[in-house]
Amino acid sequence: MIRPLIAGNWKMNGVAGMLSVIEEVVNGLSERSDGADCLICPPATLLDRASRAARGSALKTGGQDCHAEPSGAHTGDISAEMIADAGGSYVILGHSERRADHNESSEMVASKAEAAARANLTPIICVGETLDEREAGQTLSVISGQIDNSIPETATDASFVVAYEPVWAIGTGKVATVEQVEEVHNAIRKQLVQRFGGSGSDVRILYGGSMKPGNAAELVSLENVNGGLIGGASLKASDFLSIYDAGISNL
Ligand code: 13P
Repeated sequence: MIRPLIAGNWKMNGVAGMLSVIEEVVNGLSERSDGADCLICPPATLLDRASRAARGSALKTGGQDCHAEPSGAHTGDISAEMIADAGGSYVILGHSERRADHNESSEMVASKAEAAARANLTPIICVGETLDEREAGQTLSVISGQIDNSIPETATDASFVVAYEPVWAIGTGKVATVEQVEEVHNAIRKQLVQRFGGSGSDVRILYGGSMKPGNAAELVSLENVNGGLIGGASLKASDFLSIYDAGISNL
């Protein structure tokens, strides 16, 4: 049985007032049974304060991206070591918004995942096809290429998380169907087992893309869906906690 991970990606949302959401989630988790890992990745400016607010609780915090180098002349970037120093234990890498807005290639994502391992962070490596790619029947080949090239050569075990986020389902309210999610998650699982043997069965594969309290239970009940990466609905504590409840309801 894989322990689910319910992860919130706040993207470029949140100033100090949003720390109340962290506090509400911390309190909510303390009243719930411990059935899943729970994570929020706020913007970098809030990470230290969010980590302090979550300290000693079941809530983990993380970054939304990192540079491959530990330090240096890279204006505006932050390193995996800085995320760890600010209390983070995870980092989201290769999100489609970074691949699109910052031209990040899968090879760059792999270097960043190596940096995450160096700083003892767990990378959440994101993959997903665009609508054009899906309509052209390329979904599985796109995902397979992204998985192959974004997971570093040096990765040897289940010390990373994969998130499948179809680009056309992000922030659109359009959720992939159960059949679409199953097809891709099963293919990812097969590929991980081919590459990593038995430990490929332990890697958590999250679904992301318009996950909400109303659809989370069905999605996380699927065999190879081991949690969610949630954007919009993670900005509201009650919605995010409902999704956590869905994550533990199958246990
Ligand atoms: P939404 O949940 O807002 O669709 O965002 C998903 C996502 O991109 C999480 O990383």
